[in-house]
Amino acid sequence: MPARVIDGKALAAEIRDGIRLKVAARLRENRRAPGLAVVLVGSDPASKIYVRNKRLACKEAGFISHAFDMPTDTSQAALLELVDRLNADPAIDGILVQLPLPVHIRTETIIERIRPDKDVDGFHPYNVGRLAQRVPLLRPCTPYGIIKLLEKYGETFTGRHAVVVGASNIVGRPMALELLLAGATVSICHRFTPEADLEKLVRTADIVVVAVGKPRLIPGAWIKPGATVIDVGMNRLGAGNLVGDVDFESARQRAALITPVPGGVGPMTVAMLLSNTLMAVELHNN
Ligand code: GUN
Repeated sequence: MPARVIDGKALAAEIRDGIRLKVAARLRENRRAPGLAVVLVGSDPASKIYVRNKRLACKEAGFISHAFDMPTDTSQAALLELVDRLNADPAIDGILVQLPLPVHIRTETIIERIRPDKDVDGFHPYNVGRLAQRVPLLRPCTPYGIIKLLEKYGETFTGRHAVVVGASNIVGRPMALELLLAGATVSICHRFTPEADLEKLVRTADIVVVAVGKPRLIPGAWIKPGATVIDVGMNRLGAGNLVGDVDFESARQRAALITPVPGGVGPMTVAMLLSNTLMAVELHNN
């Protein structure tokens, strides 16, 4: 029997509705709307789409969206100055600097400058460290959204082998920490894992999360029958043809539960960004 297909759009809409109601309640109590600053440096086409979606979602939830679009040749000093200004601004609860940044800017330097209690991406070493030590506060949006999806669909973690393919700071590494926190046994594969080992590990996975950015890297034949497959890949193959890192059609014949691309993980990232921003305003800047 083909897998159940996870509806990320539906859960994301449910979470966003809940947030909108909470924001409306804040306003009725004469508290202010959460403010989120979304900073885009340069004009990477994919980043522009993500940023537009984040800003729209913000407004829809009743947040105040503060947009900062800076040219590609913005200096690191100028970007740090903007971060300092946003850190000090009481109307700003969350700061998101869209990645990747132009190569002349050191990403770590920028991320470490963001106040940890305004770091709604959860990328600051303080927040990553909290997650690593099992006391999470602001959690990286995509992995956190995946955990929410898995919980919604009744996934269990203890006694299960989770294999994360990809070890990026944005998805793979924090995903492994989230799965570990949830009680799974976790393996991580990355660019230096020999392909034969990758196949061997994926074949043993009860839960496989793939975040690499290589179209159809994982063939359906590698999926353990009854496994859960989470595909974070967003690969654009020509006009309007978006595919994941997993070969969806063959994988769904073996999996029990699988995310589509698009409409799986993507919408959850935005929902969890809003959730983090609401948490930031309630926890620290009420
Ligand atoms: N680039 C790709 N995903 C993300 C994300 O979740 N946050 C930021 N800031 N940049 C990204």
